[in-house]
Amino acid sequence: AVEEKTKIYELNREAAIFYYKNLHKRGAQALEYLSNKRGLSIETIKKFGLGYALNEWDALNKYLLKKGYNQSLIYKSGLVLQKKEKKGFYDRFRNRTIFPIFNTTGKVIGFGARAIGNEMPKYLNSPQTPVFNKSNNLFGLNIAKNEINDNKRIIVVEGYMDVISLYEKGIKNAVASLGTALTKGQGQLLKRYADKTYICYDSDVAGQTATLRGLDILTEVGCEVKVISLKGAKDPDELVKEHGKEAFIKYVNSALTLVEYKISLAKEKYNIKTTEGSIKFVQEITPILKNLKSPVEVDAYISKISSETGISRKAINKEFYGNNKEKN
Ligand code: UTP
Ligand code: MN
Ligand code: MN
Ligand code: MN
Ligand code: MN
Repeated sequence: AVEEKTKIYELNREAAIFYYKNLHKRGAQALEYLSNKRGLSIETIKKFGLGYALNEWDALNKYLLKKGYNQSLIYKSGLVLQKKEKKGFYDRFRNRTIFPIFNTTGKVIGFGARAIGNEMPKYLNSPQTPVFNKSNNLFGLNIAKNEINDNKRIIVVEGYMDVISLYEKGIKNAVASLGTALTKGQGQLLKRYADKTYICYDSDVAGQTATLRGLDILTEVGCEVKVISLKGAKDPDELVKEHGKEAFIKYVNSALTLVEYKISLAKEKYNIKTTEGSIKFVQEITPILKNLKSPVEVDAYISKISSETGISRKAINKEFYGNNKEKN
């Protein structure tokens, strides 16, 4: 019901304020983690409304009850869990740094929560609720949408900390796909705000796989998309922290198109110095050239591939146009 959703938004806001106040009043350890370990300024911590969930079983539940919310609504918000044999409720997030998730109209729809030490899991998130559907929202879009300048570019990263660290360094147009690989709903949302999108996922295998999916989804919904492929850092957070804003901007400026990115992956996969490797390489990337808009581009790539592999232009041409026979 509309009424119920309104109530949950309101409850979420109360919870966000409770977490926020506790970070500054009783969250010395979390605050020191965010500022010293993660390098965030107090302004950034406040801008994102970061908070702290107390190291208690039911501090939030008690607080919300006292504020007049009924137990069933609190439960529906996903902020509490039910004890075994249903004897009462306890807070989902305890002794964690809190990342409130806002929608583009500024409503608090859910939360992420990071362990302060090495406790597992590293992150917990709100479950699906009447107001929170992970696959239709992007963390940080409420802020990024006001920072997109005339060229309307948005950078999609994996995590909360990537968005926030980039912001700290003055790169304010990043959003996170909330851990999941990008969904079509998120792609459509991006399309509404951005003319150009950049995927900048973690440099591990999971990040690469998610990049390929993200590329397909963003292309499918009609976004212009490029890939920022980080080397020597595991994610954007680590990169800007260790090497600064300028290093990141360099990566943005040398972002790869879909075709360039897929070719670069194939190059890592095959050893084109061997005959076997160069054959596999050419066979794998030729179909990718279908993504190019003009025959001139196709020709330019074919020339380049030919000179890199030593396979004749004529043969690569045949491989390409042969694969496209049904089109002609
Ligand atoms: P990462 O594992 O890359 O985390 O997950 P991170 O943001 O780099 O973590 P730290 O804080 O710098 O160490 C990326 C995102 O995936 C989701 C979170 O949204 C996280 O920001 N995630 C990750 C989860 O939901 N649960 C997990 O256990 C881990
Ligand atoms: Mn990751
Ligand atoms: Mn490094
Ligand atoms: Mn990461
Ligand atoms: Mn990280």
